[in-house]
Amino acid sequence: MVKNTPTITTYSTRGGSGKTLISVNLAYWFASKLGKKTVIVDADIEAPSLDRILLSKPTKKDFSPEHTWVHYLDGVTDIENILLETEYDNLYLIRSPPPEIGKRFLSNKRQEWWATALKRGIIAQQELLNKLGIDWIIIDNQSGISMNSVNHMALADNSLLVLRPANYGVDATFEFLREMISILQATVQTRQDFFVWNQVPQPQNNYEEKLLDKFLGEWDDFFIKMGVKPTIRIPYVHSVSIELLGKNAGIFSHIKEFYEGIELIAKKIIDSSNL
Ligand SMILES: Nc1ncnc2c1ncn2[C@@H]1O[C@H](COP(=O)(O)OP(=O)(O)OP(=O)(O)O)[C@@H](O)[C@H]1O
Ligand SMILES: [Mg+2]
Repeated sequence: MVKNTPTITTYSTRGGSGKTLISVNLAYWFASKLGKKTVIVDADIEAPSLDRILLSKPTKKDFSPEHTWVHYLDGVTDIENILLETEYDNLYLIRSPPPEIGKRFLSNKRQEWWATALKRGIIAQQELLNKLGIDWIIIDNQSGISMNSVNHMALADNSLLVLRPANYGVDATFEFLREMISILQATVQTRQDFFVWNQVPQPQNNYEEKLLDKFLGEWDDFFIKMGVKPTIRIPYVHSVSIELLGKNAGIFSHIKEFYEGIELIAKKIIDSSNL
């Protein structure tokens, strides 16, 4: 059976769905539970957040402002320079620059630049996996529909759509995907697309439980028909939000309700992708 590339991009058309937290905790799961060399790429070029989560202690590598994913895509630095160690075993980070630099970067790029960026992204993927000994690449994508987010969706053989259960948001996502998914799936035969419900409220009574099931169940069917596979429903976990107010926040392996979900998603992707 043909294997797909061990790369996962999270994405969502709306902000704040939980892409970053799920990406970081997935990457941590591969690195800590499986002991796989895993890199997480901060592809949220206009609003990066992974420095705060993963580089709270100094790293061994030079922290040059030009050693970022954006600079790599632009051809001004090499893959070896942008792969940073984190304080966690087996977990590496590729950063984005500060938002003002990222925004400036994106503001004047033509279509051709994005085509070249996608090619460079594919080369980066090959170099990370074949030359630098990386086993898994997790890409934390930018919210919304843009050249940047679509490029990163195309780059990974596995995508994970992070959905918050709110009608208007899911509607827009569905319309966008209807056009995109068949194109992406036609390009790479081994491609796998998944979705996860995140921040799902806990029903307080039977009526709410039925309503939630009806709402999510209907959307499940729509996404499945489109070729996007369900994973799980992660509840809204208060302690996740509260911990994020603290200093070293972001990895939630100690929060059972959240981390069990992460583990199930990872296993589902591994199983379905024959990886
Ligand atoms: N399962 C959850 N339980 C409780 N809170 C959550 C959960 N998932 C995410 N959150 C909350 O949602 C907020 C947004 O999460 P996160 O930053 O991961 O989303 P995002 O999709 O990456 O956002 P952006 O589009 O801005 O990049 C977090 O600050 C956290 O408080
Ligand atoms: Mg984010």
